[in-house]
Amino acid sequence: MEKLTSNELRTKYLNFFAERGHAIIPTASLIPENDPTVLFTTAGMHPLVPYLLGEKHPRGTRLTDVQICVRTGDIEEVGDASHCTFFEMLGNWSLGDYFKKEAISWSFDFLTKVLGIPLERLSVSVFAGDESCPRDDESADIWASLGVDRSHIFFLPKKNNWWGPAGVTGPCGPDTEMFIDTGKPKCSETCSPACDCGKYLEIWNNVFMQYFKDANGNFTPLAKKNVDTGMGLERTLCIINGFKSVYETDLFDFAIKALEKMSGKTYSDGGEDMVAMRIIADHIRTATFMLGDINGITPSNVDQGYVLRRLIRRSVRYAKKLGLPDGSLEEVAKLYIAKYGDVYEFIKANADKIISELKLEEERFGKTLEQGLKEFEKVITHIPTKTVPGKTAFRLYDTFGFPLEMTVELASENGFDVDTDGYEKAFKEHQEKSKLGADQKFKGGLADSTEETAKLHSATHLLNAALKEVLHDNSIMQKGSNITAERLRFDFNFDRPLTKEEIEAVEKRVNEEIGKGIEIKCEEMTVDEAKAQGAIGVFTSKYGERVKVYTIGFSKEICGGPHAKNTQDLGEFKIVKEQSSSAGVRRIKAVLTPKGDK
Ligand code: ALA
Repeated sequence: MEKLTSNELRTKYLNFFAERGHAIIPTASLIPENDPTVLFTTAGMHPLVPYLLGEKHPRGTRLTDVQICVRTGDIEEVGDASHCTFFEMLGNWSLGDYFKKEAISWSFDFLTKVLGIPLERLSVSVFAGDESCPRDDESADIWASLGVDRSHIFFLPKKNNWWGPAGVTGPCGPDTEMFIDTGKPKCSETCSPACDCGKYLEIWNNVFMQYFKDANGNFTPLAKKNVDTGMGLERTLCIINGFKSVYETDLFDFAIKALEKMSGKTYSDGGEDMVAMRIIADHIRTATFMLGDINGITPSNVDQGYVLRRLIRRSVRYAKKLGLPDGSLEEVAKLYIAKYGDVYEFIKANADKIISELKLEEERFGKTLEQGLKEFEKVITHIPTKTVPGKTAFRLYDTFGFPLEMTVELASENGFDVDTDGYEKAFKEHQEKSKLGADQKFKGGLADSTEETAKLHSATHLLNAALKEVLHDNSIMQKGSNITAERLRFDFNFDRPLTKEEIEAVEKRVNEEIGKGIEIKCEEMTVDEAKAQGAIGVFTSKYGERVKVYTIGFSKEICGGPHAKNTQDLGEFKIVKEQSSSAGVRRIKAVLTPKGDK
């Protein structure tokens, strides 16, 4: 077999398909744009869903790429030889163009001719058929015609030979998978690629995408049949180079070496230290890609940000176990930036952000980690059963920033489990309480001078819209807002002071809208409808929840209100101060004076 580096394998794959009429397209973001049902892009086909459903792709009907992916379902398995939370998927697609014959023949040629995999070590599986879809004899016959021995062709059920959808809904279909036989003896009479004894290692998957699965679980045939394939870069490198684990490939070996050096521990002993190094190497690589993504994920307590937080916090914990000095995780991230920066431009461009966010999150966690661990130890010596109560797990989260999964992990290391239902309950109770608190605070704030604050609130919306327009920057967003009866204060992302002319232009624009005497409109709608109408604001409400959208002339925002009735009530808008608030954030203070007042 060819011994290849990651760069060589990417290039050989893309060139092979480019020579067969495929357009090479760039990777998409780790955040799926068209699929609210999952947090991350999990396969090469994911960003292509609209095209697999029939939309025309601008680059044609044959595509190939290397897509960055995240799958965190198996996070507990990371540390073994092959599970990674981040990976690159090589893929080629036919959008209603070629089908089984070409796809299988090209896979066969790439595996045997380009990668030099001996025929006798190649095994494949095809769909055995069921009530929804017939047995795939066609694929089996194509493999056989290429020279694959019938004894190497396995018919397997839907559990094994069906792929997708990537989220809850989407395109899917029967597949044919390719395996390398490691040469280990069969583990039993029935040993097959379906078995995880380690004899067969999956290297590639060709999906014959011909169905759409809807939210009710129904499958409907797609108008056009597609091919979707996926080959994991890390795993393939590991197999063709004859490595024992993906950590020996050039995508990881330098990070492991650095961890050995910084910790003074050895990787090769196969024990706890090896596992800790693998976990850190995996998690920091994933964190580097999340922080550096074109849609920049930052650590938080929700959605993608929460997964990122877990990965970083888990790394910090394993770094402590290994006795790594402070700053080691940044060093590892820097190595990944250097390694991947040439392949992925955005990693290089976001290098500073990756390092500073990583540091920040480590600091946040570092402050409470020791205390939290002490608390945890105290807790488990005092509980009579082998179950950590939900309330305790919630306190560890709320006070010490321990993600639930970390508490579960710590507990299991000590022979305990965690009442996760109790945790959820405590979490919900807390959420309800803080919501009540926020509502009350809001009401309290209004009680003093309702009318003035409502006017300044409406002026804030106009200011937000005017800034975008005058500064020609649609990425401007509210970073903070505070309104008293006397003035508004508005923070927004912008990386330089505004000029005198710009300040005047913003004032002018806001006063123009005020002068028009526009009626302020409030409508209720779902978050999706608000988004579709181009409303700005915070889209964190649950799916289907209704929100209020305020339209004030050229401004449309999701907002709880309250507002003035008509812009003519606002008087004259004046910016009294423009200053820096924090790095990359400006702060404006502004007032409203009754018309004619000087
Ligand atoms: N979408 C297919 C997979 O992820 C190719 O295996």
